[in-house]
Amino acid sequence: MDKVLIEVEDLKKHYHTSKGTLKAVDGVSLVIRKGETFGLVGESGCGKSTLIRTILRLLYPTSGKIIFEGRNIAHLHEKDLKDLRKRMGIVFQDPHSSLNPRMTIFDILARPLKIHKIVKNRDDMVLRIVEILKLMGLQAEHMIRFPHELSGGQKQRVAIARALMVEPEILFLDEPTSALDVSVQAKILKLLDKVKKQRNLTYFYISHDINLIRVVSDRIAVMYLGKIVELGEKDLVFQKPLHPYTNGLFRSVPIPDPDVKIEKIPLEGEVPSPVNPPSGCRFHPRCEFAKSVCKGKEPKLMKVEDGRMVACHLYQ
Ligand SMILES: Nc1ncnc2c1ncn2[C@@H]1O[C@H](COP(=O)(O)OP(=O)(O)O)[C@@H](O)[C@H]1O
Ligand SMILES: [Mg+2]
Repeated sequence: MDKVLIEVEDLKKHYHTSKGTLKAVDGVSLVIRKGETFGLVGESGCGKSTLIRTILRLLYPTSGKIIFEGRNIAHLHEKDLKDLRKRMGIVFQDPHSSLNPRMTIFDILARPLKIHKIVKNRDDMVLRIVEILKLMGLQAEHMIRFPHELSGGQKQRVAIARALMVEPEILFLDEPTSALDVSVQAKILKLLDKVKKQRNLTYFYISHDINLIRVVSDRIAVMYLGKIVELGEKDLVFQKPLHPYTNGLFRSVPIPDPDVKIEKIPLEGEVPSPVNPPSGCRFHPRCEFAKSVCKGKEPKLMKVEDGRMVACHLYQ
C-alpha cells in the first residue's frame, strides 16, 4: 500500500476568461499510493474535476509536475500519451452524456480494445466484452443495445466497463454515482468495490458528497478554491478535522456516526470566485478564527501529526 503510483507537485490549471485568470487548480501537491482509495472532497466548483482531468492529461497543465511511476508526464506530447491512457482510466459523472448515443454497447466497449490493439481477433474481442458485461452485472445481450435503451445505472456500468477494458492500474471516479437514483448509487459503489479488490486497482474518487467519500476512502483530501487545505487518513480527518474549512464542511452535513463530535458552527457565506480569490488564506473571509496573518500570507500545506497535512496558520 505504500508504493507511490502518482505524485502531483504544485500543479496548476488556470483558464483565461473574459473576467480574468480563473485559477481552477492552483498549486496542488499530493501522492497517490498503489492500491489505495484516495478521496477528494470539496464543494461544487472548487476544482475537483479540473484536477483529475489535468492529472490524466485530458487537460494541459499550466504548470507543475505529474509524476507517474517516476516519470513526469505533465508536458508529454499527445502522441506519447497513448501508453498513459491505457494505464489510467476515468469514469465521468454523467453516463447519459459520456456514452456516444450512436454507438452500440459493443462498439463502445470494443473501441478501447481497437485503439490499444489489445485483442488478436474478433472472437477474442467478443469474449472480453461478454466477460466484462458479466462482471458489471449486465448480460451479453446488452451488447447490441444503444445507450438510450439502458437505465442510468446500466449506463454507468457500461462506462465503468469501458474504463476497465484496457486493464488500467488506476481509475479516476468523477462523482460516479451523483447522477443516479439513491437506490442505484449503493449498487454501483458495491460493484466498484468488488472490481477494485478483484483487479488490485487504485481508485481516486472525487465527490462533493462527504458521506460517500467517507464510505469509500482510505485517505482523503479536502479542496477549497483550487487548493488542498487538509489531507490525511480518512478516520483521523473525520474524527478530528483540523482545518476550519474541513470542520465547517463536515458540520454542514449530518454524519451518521456517534463517534464524530464536531462542535463548531457550520459554514457561512458564499464560496468566493476563483478569479481574484481572497488574499492570503483563501478561506479567511469565511473563517471564524481568521487573524491578520491569514489575510496577508498564504499558509503552506504542512505536515502536522500522524501524516496529516494542513494549510492553516493555526498550525504553522
Ligand atoms: N473550460 C473552462 N473554462 C473556464 N473555466 C472553467 C472551465 N472548466 C472549469 N472551469 C471553472 O473552474 C472551476 C473549477 O471547476 P471544476 O473543476 O469543474 O469544479 P468541481 O469539479 O469541483 O465542481 C469553476 O469555477 C469552473 O467554473
Ligand atoms: Mg466536477
